[in-house]
Amino acid sequence: MTKLATADQTQAAVVFARENQGRFVEELKALLRIPSVSTDPEHVGDVRKAAEFVAAELRRIGLENVRLVETSTEEEVIADAAGNARMVPARIGHPLVYGDWLHASGAPTVLCYGHYDVQPAEPLDEWKSPPFEPTERDGNIYARGAVDDKGQMWMHVKALEALMVAGGGTLPVNVRVIVEGEEEVGGEGIAAFVREHGDQLKADVALVSDTEMFAPDLPTLCVGLRGMIYTEIEARGARTDLHSGLFGGAAPNPFVALVQVIAQLKDAEGKILIPGFYDGVATPTDAELKAWKALPFDEEHYRETEVGSVSLTGEAGYSVLERLWARPTLDVHGMPGGFIGAGAKTVIPAKAVAKVSMRLVPDMTPTESFAKYKAYVESLCPKGIVLEVRLIHSGDPIVVSTDNKFVQAATEAMHEVFGKDTVFVRGGGSIPIVGDFVRELKIPTVMMGFGLPDDNLHAPNEKFHLANFYRGIESIIRFFGGVGA
Ligand code: BES
Ligand code: MN
Ligand code: MN
Repeated sequence: MTKLATADQTQAAVVFARENQGRFVEELKALLRIPSVSTDPEHVGDVRKAAEFVAAELRRIGLENVRLVETSTEEEVIADAAGNARMVPARIGHPLVYGDWLHASGAPTVLCYGHYDVQPAEPLDEWKSPPFEPTERDGNIYARGAVDDKGQMWMHVKALEALMVAGGGTLPVNVRVIVEGEEEVGGEGIAAFVREHGDQLKADVALVSDTEMFAPDLPTLCVGLRGMIYTEIEARGARTDLHSGLFGGAAPNPFVALVQVIAQLKDAEGKILIPGFYDGVATPTDAELKAWKALPFDEEHYRETEVGSVSLTGEAGYSVLERLWARPTLDVHGMPGGFIGAGAKTVIPAKAVAKVSMRLVPDMTPTESFAKYKAYVESLCPKGIVLEVRLIHSGDPIVVSTDNKFVQAATEAMHEVFGKDTVFVRGGGSIPIVGDFVRELKIPTVMMGFGLPDDNLHAPNEKFHLANFYRGIESIIRFFGGVGA
């Protein structure tokens, strides 16, 4: 297609998208009503329903070869403390959704990535409107998955629809769409697909909209993500639960043991105490550090409005943004087990579990980091306790290159929509597959996200600012147009 024709198509698509905003939001609401919580075996059917919903829409807008790609459900044999083998479900395989349109000869191919799975909605009583009953308030749409990532993935689909209609069934670029249902549980299914069938995802660039803008109205490209290892430490003491009066003082307590172990993982300053843990940590370039210092960031405002604690914590000698983007960290998410009902019960639980994760930064690797962590935890095992350290899932940290025409097309597209220059940031979160796009498919990735810092990702009252949903669609239309021109 000629440059002029592409510009006309882009313009017509933008007009179409504006005229259809209301319908786009209603469709998104229908998707948000499906509780596709990937970590919860009770929701496997809902997760599949969401996959089918996405596939049906890809077909309707004119993509070809649309199909669900099954990922395998794996069982794994583990040895318990007594050395007995037991089968545990390693993960539930949720389907990928694939579709393509590859008739823009001579134009680049964009691989559009998103995820249709969501995090659990609990605690439910903190939601102002129910998590799976999407509700509009103050220019936002509230629901689990509104911004992470159903709403943002839908921007891709709607941008493609608008271009298809404007182009009479053609696009200015070639596209492949891949949407996963396991991002929130580590993304192993898509990782295996990329490893084994990379040829089916052949593209020149990946487009990911699953990150945030640094501030409202500030167009942002995310150029780095932390990796992670998510683990469980199981502590076992007595054979069975025991009366704490009859046995306390003689029997080991797995909760106290876990607390003693956890207390030695990090010091009061936030430094991780695992020997050698920081070995692979790469220092950001001077240019990056300088750019981060120039970002509009007010630490006190961040503490007050985004965190809401009496003070911030973390490693001495590093700014907040460095601590979030370029330093590893360790967190405890919960300690299931024991007595958590109302009132008091005097029991020494037989076992306790701690869910502990670590965020990794370039050039740390999940394998080495887990090995160091496991060895250290085992070395701390208190008397009378048997510990088991398990890896639940992991993902690599990544920094993407910005020196390519796709990043250029993205900043130009967002300049037209926001009237501002783009800032480049990293994200503290993880999207495991992005590392594989770079390493396995050997293509650059553009992370153009439209979430806001107060969108409550993974928390009660998750929302997506509707203005950003619309501006995101328009930016993506213009990005496709720019790449195709
Ligand atoms: N979209 C987020 C990650 C994100 C958010 C990156 C904002 C940068 C800015 C993603 O859905 C997510 O939450 N990932 C998980 C991955 C994990 C479960 C492997 C995370 O970061 O906890
Ligand atoms: Mn996400
Ligand atoms: Mn998420």
